[in-house]
Formats: sequence, structure tokens, C-alpha cells
Amino acid sequence: MTTLSETAAQIEQLRRDLGSTLTILGHHYQNDNIVGHCDFLGDSLELARRIEHIQSKHIVFCGVHFMAESAALLAGSGQRVYIPDPEADCLMARMSPAGALDRTLAFLTAGGQRLMPLAYVNTTLAVKAVVGRYGGTVCTSANAKKMLAWALEQSGRVLFLPDKNLGRNTAHDLGIDDSEIFQLTLRNGEIVNADQAGSARILLWPGFCPIHDIFMEKDLQSARAKDPACRIIVHPESSPEVTAMADAAGSTSFLIRCAAEAKAGDHLVIGTESNLVCRLRDLHASRGVIIDELDASYCKNMAKITPEKLLQTLQDIANGSAEAVVLRGEEIEPAKAALERMLQVCA
Ligand code: 13P
Ligand code: SF4
Repeated sequence: MTTLSETAAQIEQLRRDLGSTLTILGHHYQNDNIVGHCDFLGDSLELARRIEHIQSKHIVFCGVHFMAESAALLAGSGQRVYIPDPEADCLMARMSPAGALDRTLAFLTAGGQRLMPLAYVNTTLAVKAVVGRYGGTVCTSANAKKMLAWALEQSGRVLFLPDKNLGRNTAHDLGIDDSEIFQLTLRNGEIVNADQAGSARILLWPGFCPIHDIFMEKDLQSARAKDPACRIIVHPESSPEVTAMADAAGSTSFLIRCAAEAKAGDHLVIGTESNLVCRLRDLHASRGVIIDELDASYCKNMAKITPEKLLQTLQDIANGSAEAVVLRGEEIEPAKAALERMLQVCA
């Protein structure tokens, strides 16, 4: 049996062999056995932005499938994007089927009403294509506030999907009250209450991230009971109740910045994916910064990317048999339009 260190050594050898033809990208939620092999680590916005600066022919994406799809969408024509396990899909992305979204948007705009769909990047290419066809755009947790403000300015009314928590938290951030927000309900794969949306300014798709939705108000209470001086920061995919109770909420890059800016003796309690929190804890411990998890919460799909699968992908690239992420032709243009609209607004 090959040990972890032998696998790591083989990966590094193949990285050297493939040289400048290869770039490995990794999301911050990957575990340390993968992170050590990545050329660039980032959150979903940083990784999407990185693509246009990459010259190499082969791009291996260590993350979940929608991220690799976005990378393939933004990659040049001679480039190929690979994901070491195509089954690594985001649970939240699964909660917004493209057909149901299309039918809901058709219903909501049937009388010529203006409504802009704003999709969190955690969606399939098929969903981004529907959003693009309706003149909508996408956002990440790092730019959700800017993109929601922009979308409201453009059309006055926004359907935010698929994350109801990020949608409501971002609306609150813009000073929008719950009375102006309407929560859609999905039953048997269809939205069943779009006819009751009235004149709400924000309509929320009923998706959520099970990894972040796990944090409870009692977790914050017990962290504060243990150390009243601790500072609790959470990712905005957490529930609005948890987000309101936290000392601050922000994207993956915000949480990383808070840890980097913390001073010796500071105690941070962080509510996000555990691989990232544990890495930040280890990274800043030597400076005397104490970092704890709000609760243990691992993304099982991110964890599907293992060193063995990464090695296999690199071997396949080296011998010409690797299967690149394939995008469906009719989805490419509208999805790209939605994604590029975000990159322009946030240039
Ligand atoms: P970021 O947009 O912060 O990278 O988050 C992606 C994600 O999957 C969060 O759960
Ligand atoms: Fe999807 Fe949540 Fe995993 Fe992020 S942490 S990839 S939103 S399931």
C-alpha cells in the first residue's frame, strides 16, 4: 500500500514533470494534504479571478464541481480544467434545479414585471445559464452586498438564489427589513408560493448550506459563557439568527483577514468549514492568537478531493487520458454573460 508521503512525493514529481503546463488551484476548505500541492489557494471569487492570469494548458481544480465549471467557463480555448473527483458537488447547489428556476422566473416575469435573478456562485452551470438568459448575474460571499445593491439599482426587485441565509443576511446588511423579503417554498422540486410574493423587493430561494446552517445560537452562548472576551465571527451562510448574534460576519477572505489581524492574546471563535478554521488555528498559534471552532463542521464534498485522486488526475494528464470538465454548449454563452457581469461590476 502506498503511504500518504509516497503519494505526496509522486504528486510533487509529476508537478515538476508537467512544469509550466500545469496549475493546481485549491479552495480554502481543502484539507492540508491537498493544500500543500496547490499553486494558488483562494475563496471562490479569488479563484475565479485567477483564471485569466493562468497561462498553463492544464488547470486542476481542487474544490467542488461548480467551481471547476466556473473555471472552465472562464478558461481560454486551449486550456483544460480537471476536477480530481467530479462527484464532489455542493449540497447547496443541488437545491436549485435549473428547470424549477426557469419556470419560477417565467411565472414571476410573465406580465413584464422587472425582476433580476442574482445567483450565488454555488450553482450549476445550467442555473447560471438560466440566470444569464433573464439578464441576471452572480455573486460570491465576498461581493454579495455590492452585487445585491447593484441588482436592486438595476431592476428594483431581485430573486436571490440558492442560499436563503446569505440572501437575508446580505439584505439586512443593506438595511432591508424582513417585511420587504419573501421566502419561496420548494415542494417536490417546484416553487409552490411564487403567487404570494406580492411586491416584496427580495425573493429568496429556499436553499442553504448544511455545513454553515449547523451553527446554533446556543453555540455562541456557550462560547461566550466560556470566554466573555472572545470575538465570534461567522460566514454569512450561517442563519440570520446566528449572524445577528455574532460579533461580525463575512466571506472566507474576511475570516482569514480577521485571523491575520488578530493580536497576541486575542481569542477568535470562527463559524465556518473546519479545515479552514483548524488551519488558521495552527497558523496563528505561534503568535499567541487563540482560535477555536464554533462547532466542528466539515464539507464532505470538498473532502472527496484526496491526494490519491489528485495523483491519478496528474498521471492521466501526463499520459493524455485525463477527462476535462465538459460544458454543455447551449449553456456556455448565457452562463458566461452572468459570470462576466459580476467580474465587471467588481473589477
Ligand atoms: P466562498 O465564496 O467564501 O469561497 O465560499 C464558498 C463556499 O462553498 C462556502 O461554503
Ligand atoms: Fe457547498 Fe456548503 Fe460545501 Fe460550500 S461548504 S461547497 S456551500 S456544501
